[in-house]
Amino acid sequence: MKVIKYSFQIHGDARGQLIALEEFKDIPFQIKRVYYMYDTVKDVVRGKHAHKSLQQILICIHGKCKILLDNGQEKKIVPLEKPYEGLFVGNDIWREMYEFSPDAVLLVLASELYDESDYIRDYEEFLEFVSDKKDSVIKK
Ligand code: TYD
Repeated sequence: MKVIKYSFQIHGDARGQLIALEEFKDIPFQIKRVYYMYDTVKDVVRGKHAHKSLQQILICIHGKCKILLDNGQEKKIVPLEKPYEGLFVGNDIWREMYEFSPDAVLLVLASELYDESDYIRDYEEFLEFVSDKKDSVIKK
């Protein structure tokens, strides 16, 4: 599984740092939604779902956390510890966010509005979903 991690351009000067993110330029999709998590309780694991078509960029703009990515065949753990790093999470990827530092703020840029029907929240269902998709590609 290829992990796509962006290192955003930092506009730093004597006053401090600034990062600007533009859709289709710094972010490979139209940004239709932004949400963020903070005050995450110790030992909590968030996410635990996949999306059928949503694309996202995760940025830990303060503090740190870890992201587990799982495509049904392979798992990768990606630490997010810098406000200038963005992790691309495409569709059909099971994700879990965990080991949040108490000060962590995890910002998510999403390609679609919130749509519960795009979620796969059951891991066995996710494995079936990706395996069915692979079979249909092989049959083509
Ligand atoms: P949830 O999906 O449990 O968060 P995660 O899986 O990323 O840890 O979302 C928590 C609540 O917030 C749930 O009631 C749905 C709501 N929510 C929205 O209303 N809009 C959104 O864009 C998101 C991501 C969640």
